[in-house]
Amino acid sequence: MRVAYGKKPVPPVPREHPHLDESWLADGWLALFVQWLRDATEYVAPDGGRIPEPNAMVLATVDQRGLPATRTVLCKGADERGIVFYTNYESGKAQHLDLHPFASVTFPWVLLERQVHVRGSVTRVGPEETREYWDTRPRGSQLGAWASHQSRRIGSRADLEAALAAVTKQFCDVDYVPVPPFWGGYRLEPSVVEFWQGRENRLHNRIRCEKTSAGWEVFRLQP
Ligand SMILES: Cc1cc2nc3c(=O)[nH]c(=O)nc-3n(C[C@H](O)[C@H](O)[C@H](O)COP(=O)(O)O)c2cc1C
Repeated sequence: MRVAYGKKPVPPVPREHPHLDESWLADGWLALFVQWLRDATEYVAPDGGRIPEPNAMVLATVDQRGLPATRTVLCKGADERGIVFYTNYESGKAQHLDLHPFASVTFPWVLLERQVHVRGSVTRVGPEETREYWDTRPRGSQLGAWASHQSRRIGSRADLEAALAAVTKQFCDVDYVPVPPFWGGYRLEPSVVEFWQGRENRLHNRIRCEKTSAGWEVFRLQP
């Protein structure tokens, strides 16, 4: 199948807030980020469509060779301390973060012609915070987390299903499935946050917030 690059598959979405200027960052990066995440969550396209997984973000890490790797994870918390996601502490990304505790995440809200990226250092969240989130997850996801040694090779789908059957049996007599010791959260503490809003003629608006020893600096970049 040929893909017709350059052809827009859907008409452009009417943008209610096509602008973006430094004044929008008057209350800091977090307030605008939360607003944009809310906009993405509540957005309804003219055809009734919604943005699937508006809290999905592309997480970049680097391996021992310096080779970047990206994958999608879900943002499960955001406050002044940073952006939180949950994963397996023995996964590929976790091994990268053990070696280089820095990452970049990008929220590609393409339907809104918006993008936010955040870069900074990464630390594990405390066990209490992980448990609080774990307790909100459905039992099936909890068992799945126990069953999967994320990012390791497995021979077949049947082996994976056997692993799930084994943990389902292991926990069949208990009401509470505990947090696996190899699973938990990470917090990306921002040192750079950039907001991007699409505009006409590719003269897009980019406003960057950079943490300095004197506080946050807010400035505009060429698109
Ligand atoms: C929409 C979406 C959401 C995802 N959310 C998560 C997540 O929150 N945590 C996670 O560990 N993997 C999540 N994944 C799977 C990851 O993209 C990835 O396959 C997995 O974490 C293994 O990555 P790694 O081998 O680089 O560690 C998600 C995938 C998609 C497509």
